[in-house]
Amino acid sequence: MTSQPQRPAFGTVLTSHMAVATYKDGHWSRSELNPVAPLNLSPAAHVLHYSSTCFEGFKAFRRKDGSIHVFRMDRHIQRMRQSARQLVLPEPDAQQLAEMVRGLIDKSRDAVPEAPGALYLRPILFGTSANIGAAATPTTEAMLIVLASPVWDYFAGGMKPLRILVDDVNTRSAAQMGMVKTGGNYAAALGPTLSARAKHQVDQVLFCPGGEVQETGAANFFLIRQGELLTRSLDATFLHGVTRDSLLTLGRDMGYSVSERVFNVQEMLEWARTGEAALSGTAAVLAGVGTLIHRGTEYPVGNGDVGPLTRALRAQLVAIQQGDAPDRHGWLEQI
Ligand SMILES: Cc1ncc(COP(=O)(O)O)c(C=O)c1O
Repeated sequence: MTSQPQRPAFGTVLTSHMAVATYKDGHWSRSELNPVAPLNLSPAAHVLHYSSTCFEGFKAFRRKDGSIHVFRMDRHIQRMRQSARQLVLPEPDAQQLAEMVRGLIDKSRDAVPEAPGALYLRPILFGTSANIGAAATPTTEAMLIVLASPVWDYFAGGMKPLRILVDDVNTRSAAQMGMVKTGGNYAAALGPTLSARAKHQVDQVLFCPGGEVQETGAANFFLIRQGELLTRSLDATFLHGVTRDSLLTLGRDMGYSVSERVFNVQEMLEWARTGEAALSGTAAVLAGVGTLIHRGTEYPVGNGDVGPLTRALRAQLVAIQQGDAPDRHGWLEQI
């Protein structure tokens, strides 16, 4: 057996450049590609006091022939604009942001790892007006930056089944903010997630306020069994994952009957006796859940391992992303 080379942890390495645009006097500046460097930011910047910030995360893949393809960038830009609107931040122009991403990928071409690695793209938007009295006033100035980070296989050590704490008390975010990709939501989920890790040795917390299954701190939740896929229907309480949407589309293509509806913890535990459960997101694609822990009791999902349907769905999406299966839905753009 060959040993895996030691790879940096996800997100810890940036490429040399970043794309930057600023908003002032009602319009966006031309964007620039600059070397990655610390920012010149007022300590009174709106974002530092009132958390006026949102971000995105998506990937570009290198194929065997060396060409580079970005996955569903339009959807991520759409979601970023929706987050900006919800936070009363200036909306990035969709075409300008797409050009910033394309330019950065092109500049970072040599840094895109081979599959199963990828180039992770991270646009961030934040309010920069210098005013510490602006709790109830939107920022009038903002900065839009796109960073790029080479990432390697999330499952380099093998796909381990996840242990998940089912939390039917805490919420991940304020109800109307779940669909907004903003840092405050991650800060809010961190405390419950760390305490669950310490107490129950779990990987993640599945937030189920009032007993309704929502999502984990950074991924959507799926129930899977032969011919059936179930996930929560879209509402403002959770992030509308692009991977979620892609898997639902692929599921339909593969003949699954797909249900998007509200379901509760009892139904999930019942399903888990014979079915499969998984988390979906850009980083992990589709990660199998092996154990659910609810009110002190451990419930194995199926036989406690990553299920075969989860593996097959994941493999199908990865094959499309890496150019090994046809892109029937026009999800990839060559850069
Ligand atoms: C809270 C949360 N839910 C779901 C997802 C999955 O979204 P996507 O599939 O678009 O990466 C993410 C990851 O971005 C997330 O942070």
